[in-house]
Amino acid sequence: MTDDTSKTTHFGFETVPEADKAGRVQGVFNSVASKYDIMNDVMSMGIHRIWKDAMMDWLAPRAGQKLLDVAGGTGDISFRFLKRAGSGHATVLDLTEPMLIEGRKRAEAEQMHDSLDWVVGDAMALPFADNTFDVYTISFGIRNVTRPQEALNEAYRVLRPGGRLMVLEFSQLPNAAMQKAYDLYSFNVIPQMGKMIANDRDSYQYLVESIRNFPDQDTFLGMVRAAGFENAKYRNMTMGVAALHSGWKI
Ligand SMILES: C[S@@+](CC[C@H](N)C(=O)[O-])C[C@H]1O[C@@H](n2cnc3c(N)ncnc32)[C@H](O)[C@@H]1O
Repeated sequence: MTDDTSKTTHFGFETVPEADKAGRVQGVFNSVASKYDIMNDVMSMGIHRIWKDAMMDWLAPRAGQKLLDVAGGTGDISFRFLKRAGSGHATVLDLTEPMLIEGRKRAEAEQMHDSLDWVVGDAMALPFADNTFDVYTISFGIRNVTRPQEALNEAYRVLRPGGRLMVLEFSQLPNAAMQKAYDLYSFNVIPQMGKMIANDRDSYQYLVESIRNFPDQDTFLGMVRAAGFENAKYRNMTMGVAALHSGWKI
């Protein structure tokens, strides 16, 4: 943690005081919460489902495991995890309560509420004891966190020895021509669709800018290792549009 008030960070392409970022991020997700699930399907043309299923394939959840799903939002990862594990428990933690409220509605509809807890909190200061969870996931969340390295350090702390970290996040395409085509799509189409479907251009402009600012695959791999994780690796999804990073607390 730092209390240096002169420090700045990115909020999309804007430079803002570090102390302001979490509030700005919360503003975005407060505003998209009720439409989040449908917009995810529309914007990604359903591809986020394929990436999340690939995350579960690599994670291979086992019966009885305890998951902490940070920046878990409406619970997409936790639902998948519990269905694959057959039995177990998931704690969904998120900064933005309206996202968790949407998730809780889904849990009730799917009669899964007994296996889930919903906690408002910050990835950089988790309200859990050391060595608590078998698995830590963060999906499309860490690029929104003010100091991602602190979130990774916290992940390491709350995982038990033998525990597994898995991060799904947008990433960078290694091929410059493809990155250019992808930028054209994301900067021109996504904010416009956000305006048309959710009447919220600004939130989706933030989304594409925050994706562009996030460290590339190898830089992020270095951060996972710096937190203490071993056997850290990544896999590109859809040529690097997203990446999955995995690591173990040994
Ligand atoms: C794009 S959503 C991802 C939701 C879900 N994990 C998924 O994959 O669909 C990002 C979530 O990160 C949450 N978030 C942003 N910063 C956070 C922080 N510092 N701590 C916890 N959650 C945070 C937001 O409130 C939002 O719900």
